[in-house]
Amino acid sequence: MTTLSLTINGRKHGPFEVRDDLTMNDFLREMLGMTGTKFGCGAAQCLSCAIIVDNPDGTSYTSPTCIVSAVTFHDKTIRTVEGHAKDGELSTLQKAFIAHFAFQCGYCTAGFLNEGQVLLERLARTPVPRDELEQTIADALDGHLCRCTGYIKYHEAVRDVILADAQRYLIANK
Ligand code: FES
Ligand code: FES
Repeated sequence: MTTLSLTINGRKHGPFEVRDDLTMNDFLREMLGMTGTKFGCGAAQCLSCAIIVDNPDGTSYTSPTCIVSAVTFHDKTIRTVEGHAKDGELSTLQKAFIAHFAFQCGYCTAGFLNEGQVLLERLARTPVPRDELEQTIADALDGHLCRCTGYIKYHEAVRDVILADAQRYLIANK
């Protein structure tokens, strides 16, 4: 057993005593009841289970949870799908996913949402030229599998959010 404390969606959790082999996915879903994080392939192949990990320097990245032990996240700050809406209002990206009918069963959606959010935050720090945007989005979402094949709609939803606030996310034309 190992001690686990962490911050999830801005709230401190723990300390817990957890088995070393407890996966982060089971910790979130079974111990905390946070079932928004899904379990798909269980083999780090689909990223439906991806969460956001926030670095102290303000950067962030996504991590699968299905094959990663919970104790790996000790002392870390993470975000899950449950943390995107604020005061009952969906985030801009969540609204765009709905507007584009990007998902059907929704099993992959939390992973795409977290990845898209990480991309938005990265572009806000480091904008890209407009002509690099399509590839930038494709690269960011690469690896997320959707059995309902919503790939293009997810891509378009992310693109819409970026273009709606181009001054923030894109390098201005000279
Ligand atoms: S369930 Fe984790 S990558 Fe598929
Ligand atoms: S919406 Fe069903 S797997 Fe993507």
